[in-house]
Amino acid sequence: MKQTVDWHKHWTRPNPGFHEGQVNRYLEKYLPLFSLPAGATIFMPLCGKALDIYWLSQQGYRVIGVELSAVAVESFFNEADLPYSKKTDGKFTRYEAQNITLYQGDYLDIQAAQLEQCALVYDRASIVAIESFNRASYQQRMMQIIPAATPMLLITLTYDQSQMSGPPFSVPVDEIRQLYQPDYQIDLLESNEQIEERPRWRDQGLTSLNETALKLTPRGHCDE
Ligand SMILES: C[S@@+](CC[C@H](N)C(=O)[O-])C[C@H]1O[C@@H](n2cnc3c(N)ncnc32)[C@H](O)[C@@H]1O
Repeated sequence: MKQTVDWHKHWTRPNPGFHEGQVNRYLEKYLPLFSLPAGATIFMPLCGKALDIYWLSQQGYRVIGVELSAVAVESFFNEADLPYSKKTDGKFTRYEAQNITLYQGDYLDIQAAQLEQCALVYDRASIVAIESFNRASYQQRMMQIIPAATPMLLITLTYDQSQMSGPPFSVPVDEIRQLYQPDYQIDLLESNEQIEERPRWRDQGLTSLNETALKLTPRGHCDE
């Protein structure tokens, strides 16, 4: 994916600003909504070294992630104290430990065969890491690589993009709807003002920051 953000530079710091030092609260709260069977596979696009990877694996799920930065992937395994194997796999380096597989490389190179078993997409700080000119490609690729019946838990951020350049970028719920509504019913789970909890961004001039958790249910698999 051609992009202007230098992600490798972000990963020269041990804990980049977007890295949460805890399991994501929306993930913990809303995962039960998806009624996943034990051992189900969860795909985390642009996974960084999120603690969510380990937490999900400890809940008994299989986690598949893709991440551009080898520093992020290796930090994840080292910080979780998980011995891993590392192999070249096409355009990727594939890292594996227990029920976790992380592909180090470009998200756009992931193939459907790698996600055949995927039962949930968990997108936290992923679509908001994509520049606006790449978001349609991100969504289209997602539709090509996940099985048709795969739901998503997606957390997006909305703020005045003229106050801060990003990443993360502001991706309003309406934009998520434009991208995913043809394939998904989109339900708003929770929306919260977060500016008081992000003093670093407030200091950069941001006056409001809204975080929204969405449940995306594939059409044809909704309860209506
Ligand atoms: C904002 S961070 C979020 C990481 C993670 N989802 C989390 O919640 O901590 C975005 C991540 O996407 C990675 N990334 C950016 N472009 C990518 C691409 N084309 N393919 C794979 N990973 C990418 C970056 O290296 C970075 O770690």
